[in-house]
Amino acid sequence: MIDIIEQEIIKLSPKLFNTLLMDHTTNKNICWATENYKHLGPEYYPQEPIKKSLITGSNTNVIQPRVEKELKAQVQRTKENAEVFTPSWICNEQNNLIDESWFGRKDVFNHSNNQGWTTIIDHIIFPKGKSWKDYIDSRRLEISCGEAPYLVSRYDTVTGKEITVENRIGLLDRKLRIVNENTAEENDWYHWTKRAFESTYGYEYQGDSLLIARENLLYTFIENMEYKFSHEPSEKQLQEIARIISWNIWQMDGITFSAPYSERPRVQSQLTIFDLMGEPESNETEPIPCKIFDWRSKKSLEFKTMIDGGNTNDK
Ligand SMILES: C[S@@+](CC[C@H](N)C(=O)[O-])C[C@H]1O[C@@H](n2cnc3c(N)ncnc32)[C@H](O)[C@@H]1O
Repeated sequence: MIDIIEQEIIKLSPKLFNTLLMDHTTNKNICWATENYKHLGPEYYPQEPIKKSLITGSNTNVIQPRVEKELKAQVQRTKENAEVFTPSWICNEQNNLIDESWFGRKDVFNHSNNQGWTTIIDHIIFPKGKSWKDYIDSRRLEISCGEAPYLVSRYDTVTGKEITVENRIGLLDRKLRIVNENTAEENDWYHWTKRAFESTYGYEYQGDSLLIARENLLYTFIENMEYKFSHEPSEKQLQEIARIISWNIWQMDGITFSAPYSERPRVQSQLTIFDLMGEPESNETEPIPCKIFDWRSKKSLEFKTMIDGGNTNDK
């Protein structure tokens, strides 16, 4: 039940998948970036784009969460990509530390105990000088996010056990709990929910895990709306949230900060003596540096500029 059947997403809105597969760095679809599907044919090779037709219709079971993959595939992925997922109770303890630092007190959302946790059900109180809106806007990033268990916890990625909306422990889950507690009117709820998604980021190398992470965030949105208002979101809302997700949960090689298997002509940082003498340009290529989006300033920037010191390039 934890596997989101890709066919279901198409039923929600046929256009939604185009958005969920989008890569804003290359302006193409995200690519497989894993050897696991090669046996299905050349369109499933690592450098190839993930296309809707390859994972829907009769191919709807091709992509499965790690916990439902065959043991052989799990072992291969661990060897090749260091893929070992973190159980929810550990994600919870680490996320608790982040909140302990933000709130200046322990156990804000739950008490962790015996490889589990007990949710605190009272409304969350904010420290002096910080509002619930500041919490929604404070940015969070899960590096090498796999299926994004630190961001959303619809299920335990290790045991596969489902987790109810009230008991979730991800960084985005916590923001959405705060929105649920502090808004009553639906337009207001949607406004702050969108901002919660806008301030939540993650990147991952392998395309199938990345797509599952994106689906998990989208379904977290749907499930929270059903929890709060007992109805599904509109198609327009689904599209808007999917667009934010497609920017914020992006495909990147975390070592080079570039899109896997991407290529562009090499950008010369300095003119050489040969350029000055009019020699033909080099036809060397380089991987494309990943772009992310700052929703508050409404600008895209290269991720690596944040590592290098925060200079931004307007799109
Ligand atoms: C140990 S798993 C952790 C996944 C998830 N954060 C969790 O805690 O369950 C490591 C993840 O890093 C990804 N990965 C491996 N090499 C990477 C790279 N160069 N850039 C980005 N992600 C990478 C793998 O595909 C895998 O999903």
